[in-house]
Amino acid sequence: MTNTILVTGGTGKTGSRVVEQLKAKGVSPHVGTRSPKGENDARFDWKDPSTFDAAFEGVRAVYLVAPTDTVDSLGAMQSGLEAALAAGVQRFVLLSGSSLEEGGPMMGAVHAWLRSNAPEWSVLRPAWFMQNFSELHHRNPIRDEAAIYTATDDGRIGFIDAGDIAACAAALLVAGTVENTDYILTGPEAISYDVVAETLTYQLGRQISHDRLTVDELAERHQSLGLPEEYARALAAMDGAIAAGAEDRVTDNVQKLTGKVPASIVEFVQQNIEAWK
Ligand SMILES: NC(=O)c1ccc[n+]([C@@H]2O[C@H](COP(=O)([O-])OP(=O)(O)OC[C@H]3O[C@@H](n4cnc5c(N)ncnc54)[C@H](OP(=O)(O)O)[C@@H]3O)[C@@H](O)[C@H]2O)c1
Repeated sequence: MTNTILVTGGTGKTGSRVVEQLKAKGVSPHVGTRSPKGENDARFDWKDPSTFDAAFEGVRAVYLVAPTDTVDSLGAMQSGLEAALAAGVQRFVLLSGSSLEEGGPMMGAVHAWLRSNAPEWSVLRPAWFMQNFSELHHRNPIRDEAAIYTATDDGRIGFIDAGDIAACAAALLVAGTVENTDYILTGPEAISYDVVAETLTYQLGRQISHDRLTVDELAERHQSLGLPEEYARALAAMDGAIAAGAEDRVTDNVQKLTGKVPASIVEFVQQNIEAWK
């Protein structure tokens, strides 16, 4: 499929990498953003239907990133998805999450909608991003306090590099055909935060610790850093699920979709070492 592609969330962690990987395949996608700047940028806001017609015009495939400020993903996206279908979009590749079952909360509801309505679709369900250590909530504590705070105990996660998620998305956006299914995406190994801390310690040459909190302590910490109480509790509860083994798995879907072995935590830390200096 070589027709025009729109990458929503095109300035974000996975979307920006999807854009780069499509360019590497010789495809120049439209970059969906609420604040267009570049010549390939398309103004797109899930909450502003006046942006839909121009953004979807001539588009055959879309990378879908749900708006990040609401848990009602389908409520926020449905009118945009319907506009995409009406404009002739054929293929949808949705970014969801490993813990979000089809028909469940957040992107799980969008997943079910795609099965019922989209001609061609794929749902990517990645485990936790390695970029959480280099670009998100774990970065500053690692750099400034030499610590990773979790309530995961010895729970293991198949951490995945956002570049590998993007490679899967790019492959599915341009493939001749797709299987209309979902893919749990992980890195090459399921590891605990102790192992992440040990890897950082070795690669940075200074001690980084994994500080084990209870779920309640972690929720309090999230709140003290400004998260609303309900969100802080939900986020901390996810660590409780990890401690119970919910994310302890590895799949070979990245290799099946891209032909490449996904990056390990050692490779990720080596490639992003400047993030913690
Ligand atoms: N971090 C993890 O470990 C993890 C694991 C599994 C799944 N996930 C899922 O990954 C998703 C986040 O993906 P990401 O990290 O690639 O994105 P991100 O870096 O958080 O960026 C989100 C993008 O969405 C755009 N956006 C926000 N609100 C929008 C709206 N109303 N309309 C249109 N665009 C909007 C923003 O672009 P502009 O500001 O340019 O408009 C931004 O580029 C979340 O749904 C999360 O649940 C995360």
